[in-house]
Amino acid sequence: MTAIPRNQWYVAAYGREIGNELFSRTICDEPILFWRTATGEVTAMADRCVHRRFPLSQAPSRLVDDQVICGYHGFTYGTDGRCVAVPGQTRVPRTARLTRYPVVEQDSFVWVWIGDPDRADATRIPRAPWLDSPNYTTVSGMEPLAARFGLLVDNLLDLSHETYLHGGYIGTPEVASTPITTEVDDDAGIVYVSRHMDDAECPPFYAKSTGLSGRISRWQDIEYTPPCLYKLHSRIAPVGVLPNDDGTDPDAFHVEVVYAITPETEHSTHDFWAVARDFALDDDEVTDFLAESNRTVVLQDVEALDVLEQVVAGEPERYQELSINIDTGGLAARRMLKRMIDDATTPVAAS
Ligand code: FES
Ligand SMILES: [Fe+2]
Repeated sequence: MTAIPRNQWYVAAYGREIGNELFSRTICDEPILFWRTATGEVTAMADRCVHRRFPLSQAPSRLVDDQVICGYHGFTYGTDGRCVAVPGQTRVPRTARLTRYPVVEQDSFVWVWIGDPDRADATRIPRAPWLDSPNYTTVSGMEPLAARFGLLVDNLLDLSHETYLHGGYIGTPEVASTPITTEVDDDAGIVYVSRHMDDAECPPFYAKSTGLSGRISRWQDIEYTPPCLYKLHSRIAPVGVLPNDDGTDPDAFHVEVVYAITPETEHSTHDFWAVARDFALDDDEVTDFLAESNRTVVLQDVEALDVLEQVVAGEPERYQELSINIDTGGLAARRMLKRMIDDATTPVAAS
């Protein structure tokens, strides 16, 4: 049984990664070929020629006028995946077509549906509107992770690790010492984890970007929509400064930290990260600093999780955990993910 939830939307790429050339990425064990058509739409289909399975993203395969020509024997496919020409005969076999994947471009991401295409409902894709909003400045990237995606989910749902793994960047003693509250909305499919630090040290990540010196009020409100989209609403303000009753919050700094957690295979993950801020919008120094710092933080996680994957994969019979309060959010997320996996593998009853 697979440990990856299917019949789900996953982030496959940033829109900027896909242009008018062949681009390949493996999502949930499926090698997928992407390109942006002449009309600007992103198209997604299997990256394996139906003839002898040569990867269509691989040179000398090429894209000519919205048709991809296999570099091995020349089978040619249109944007709908249908084969339009084969060598040595005029008749194209009827079954010669590539699997197509539903695709939606939204909030700077390219989302792809993995599973039964008839169940793809684009309205269910969770939103991250800050990422392409003019009211925010965003830095983003993607790091490959040689670990199963569940380890990254655990990692992001329990930020107490910031104190230890990310000291000197985003970690301070208060993150680990402040208790969390966890809420699960099963109908909406969201796990919330909150940690509000009312009087905390300001870590360099926020001191340098906001210019605040001295102690701060630091709120971390996590909103995870399994399987793929994780949002950390981060609020930083001088100690004692609170939002107004009407919800406006002009004296605080807001950072929306977004992760898209996309399985590449059962044991590797695409770790998409983005940091959107509502202050110092045109300050390139702040932009460069946040990009560099966050990438460093992500790589600290990657290094730790790559090690953990080796442990988990290598010692399955001895693998045992001991969970405490800080793990409540992670455990709730695991339950939701398990349900998604079970649902996707349960045959739908005939009606
Ligand atoms: S493998 Fe593609 S044409 Fe033969
Ligand atoms: Fe981390």
